[in-house]
Amino acid sequence: MCGIIGYTGPLEAKRLLIEGLAGLEYRGYDSAGIAFFRTDSKIQVIKQVGKVAALKEACEGISVGSHCGIGHTRWATHGGVTNENAHPHQAGQVTLIHNGIIENYHQLTEEFQLQDELVSQTDSEVAARVLDRFYQGDPFVAIQKLVGKLEGSYGFCILFADRPGEIYAVRSVSPLVAAYTHSGAVIASDLTALIPYTQSYFVVPEGEIVRLTPYKVQTYDLQTFAKTQPPVMTVNWNMDAAMKNGFPHFMLKEIHEQPEAMKNTILPRLSKGLPDFTDDGIDDEIFRSCTQVHIIACGTAMHAGMVAKTVMEPLLRIPVTVTIASEFRYQQPLIDEHTLVIVISQSGETIDTLAAMRLAREYGSQTLAIVNVKGSTIARESGYVLYTHAGPEIAVASTKAYSVQLAALYLIACRMALVRGKYTKEQARTFLAEFLDVIPAMEEMIKRREEMKAVVTHIINSPDAFFIGRGLDYAFSLEGALKLKEISYIHAEAYAAGELKHGTIALISDQVPVIATATQDNIFAKSMSNVREVKARGAFVILITKEGAKVDGDLADIHIMIPAVRDIFTVFPIAVVLQLIAYYASLGKNLDVDQPRNLAKSVTVE
Ligand code: G6P
Repeated sequence: MCGIIGYTGPLEAKRLLIEGLAGLEYRGYDSAGIAFFRTDSKIQVIKQVGKVAALKEACEGISVGSHCGIGHTRWATHGGVTNENAHPHQAGQVTLIHNGIIENYHQLTEEFQLQDELVSQTDSEVAARVLDRFYQGDPFVAIQKLVGKLEGSYGFCILFADRPGEIYAVRSVSPLVAAYTHSGAVIASDLTALIPYTQSYFVVPEGEIVRLTPYKVQTYDLQTFAKTQPPVMTVNWNMDAAMKNGFPHFMLKEIHEQPEAMKNTILPRLSKGLPDFTDDGIDDEIFRSCTQVHIIACGTAMHAGMVAKTVMEPLLRIPVTVTIASEFRYQQPLIDEHTLVIVISQSGETIDTLAAMRLAREYGSQTLAIVNVKGSTIARESGYVLYTHAGPEIAVASTKAYSVQLAALYLIACRMALVRGKYTKEQARTFLAEFLDVIPAMEEMIKRREEMKAVVTHIINSPDAFFIGRGLDYAFSLEGALKLKEISYIHAEAYAAGELKHGTIALISDQVPVIATATQDNIFAKSMSNVREVKARGAFVILITKEGAKVDGDLADIHIMIPAVRDIFTVFPIAVVLQLIAYYASLGKNLDVDQPRNLAKSVTVE
């Protein structure tokens, strides 16, 4: 979860680290800290509870020439949110930042008799102290010994007091990317921190040590210390993509970017009006030969999977199961070599999703990952990858990533239907032609954002909100509820509309907001009956239907109509509606839209 950056080179490190951390803050914002070599070659540590802005303030007035340092923004796991628990941690010759969890830190504390030395409650400080015990002047040997002792996940950036200008790093599971650029050597947990300096980078391989000096970035095998050469990757994201560009929040900017992101994800994969994954290197055989599809993901990505299930099952007539990655890992999943496992992850680093995918591979299943971040761990380890082209998503609440994940899933559904003989070419072409209509529909809903703003006055003073729908409407209501609760802190739940009367309807009383969607023609009348049921109990009904739907005049307190796209595609314009409702609710409550409490963008701990 935590954000990591390290820099050594000709530029002023303190400023660069703080700017880098501001860009990585979506990874965690409980505390932030930096450590750097001063001009007298001594290491100075500055750390501060709160956001990077607080660290920046704490650094003001400290004028030092610094050209090498490391920075960290924390999402607390072990130990509360205090200055002592903030990174970097220092122990003797070692100053270190850490992303991940050292699971055996209790055993290490005992083995190395660290009880009286520890000043924090963190697993990370234990690692720093063990490393210091091993350090006899050779960083490679010390790091090798440390890694031999560790259980868990880690991305470390380390300064050794007697090695000014040098940064050492090593990782297991937790991501690290690095680059040598015209401005010096940079390492970070995320690509977004490298974009200001370069578009070429490499992923720090597990089982290797990387050393950054002002002149070079070099990787070494952890066992033999022989030099290695990880493959260089390029990213076509630019700085603009990682800036707000005039929008007050990243979330609003990212909502606006959706039509473009949809085009970037869909259009390169169309050939003669049909979905074509040749350039992605995806073998049709995985679509043809599978007897079932198993979708694994977390959070919003899992909700994209829920939508895909409702689309794929009726189309393909094979079982499509969606499992939360953290649950999948500890089940005995009913998958085998005839299962196509689709893994969805924006970051490509979510640890539960990664572990679940590894498990699926152990079962012999084919794995196809839908990932946004190029070169991320899930992308590298999956049998096949379908990249979404959303560009960097910075707001913690996922928006454009959801839409493009859905776009990728719809393309897969269509391709599968084609290769499995469920669609003729003509039917597939029609599907895609109608699919493309969702892009102007999304644009229209973005333009009509004031409508969603108006809805919010009826929601923000309520402690609860309910989202109801059937079929596909239910599947995307799950995401609508998640969006609302994560950034407005309003308790929001989604229910299959027909299930409401089996308990939850007890919670519906006067003026309780119910966001009801009814966009599926075949179950429209049933959905309307359920809306009537809540209305009869005093609910404040915000109804979302397609244009032209016949709705009794007294049923909805607010009625939002989306363009009449084909039923299976309504999720796209509705996603925009639900995202905007959540956005304006958060804004209306004066909350931190982009960085809601307790959350982080990339969840790299279990
Ligand atoms: C976190 C984020 C969510 C995201 C989920 C899965 O909880 O806040 O927005 O949906 O992780 O992340 P992934 O990168 O795997 O899609």
